[in-house]
Amino acid sequence: MSLSGKVIVVTGAARRIGRGIAMHLAGEGARVAIHYSSSRQEAEQTAAECGNAPTFAANLESIPEIEDLFRRVEEHFGRIDGLVNNAARFTRFDPLEVTEADWDFIHRVNLKAVFFCCQQAAKRMKASGGGRIVNISSLGGIRPWEEHVHYCASKAGVIMMTKALAKALAPSITVNSVAPGVIPFEENNDPRIRALIQATPARRAGEAAEIAEAVSYFLSATNFVTGQILAVDGGLSLR
Ligand SMILES: NC(=O)c1ccc[n+]([C@@H]2O[C@H](COP(=O)([O-])OP(=O)(O)OC[C@H]3O[C@@H](n4cnc5c(N)ncnc54)[C@H](OP(=O)(O)O)[C@@H]3O)[C@@H](O)[C@H]2O)c1
Repeated sequence: MSLSGKVIVVTGAARRIGRGIAMHLAGEGARVAIHYSSSRQEAEQTAAECGNAPTFAANLESIPEIEDLFRRVEEHFGRIDGLVNNAARFTRFDPLEVTEADWDFIHRVNLKAVFFCCQQAAKRMKASGGGRIVNISSLGGIRPWEEHVHYCASKAGVIMMTKALAKALAPSITVNSVAPGVIPFEENNDPRIRALIQATPARRAGEAAEIAEAVSYFLSATNFVTGQILAVDGGLSLR
């Protein structure tokens, strides 16, 4: 299926991987809704490079703000064909030091917001005949990282949520997930990141465009592809 003219919401689309996804989809002719929270300037820049796409601010920690976001997108475009749940948080803590606030900081965005964004989009997609949802999970939802237990749990949750929603929303809506490996955006001297890249069978880090390609596949595939998790990680999950 062509993405031309399809209305696709990308959360956290101002910067980094989200920006790469939005630009790739716009390049394929999709009409993208650029969601952002604090990165207004970057969102406007991305939107300009996506053919003057509209931007939508929302703090995804708030369910009323999520509901309002989808209301505004529908008002603007008249429909929603696709959703890419990309926005997330990432922190590193010794699990013995994690506080309730540290836990909620991650799970409110990485897991709870992803669910309620899926719910808001799916209600509208059902009413208009169907749609496509892609949740960005992580290699950390597949492999255990000892300093990111809280993050790994949130992304493993995204993976199971993807599978359960794929059953719940079939046959008109598909739900799939792309699990990125190491996708750095600045010169990184962190020895842990360097070790991960070294251990990657592809012998390099990944790029946003490579995640975007996988997202685009799920958005344009038929409804025979659902509940799938595609690791785009240079083979790192095989370690
Ligand atoms: N980069 C990697 O190596 C890597 C590896 C594995 C998985 N991933 C996953 O890939 C996705 C994108 O990664 P990334 O590194 O590009 O992400 P990122 O820069 O850490 O975050 C993406 C965006 O999430 C948005 N966000 C965070 N909290 C929010 C909130 N409360 N409300 C609304 N938006 C919020 C931010 O928007 P604003 O800037 O507008 O506030 C941010 O720009 C994430 O799901 C991440 O977990 C990334």
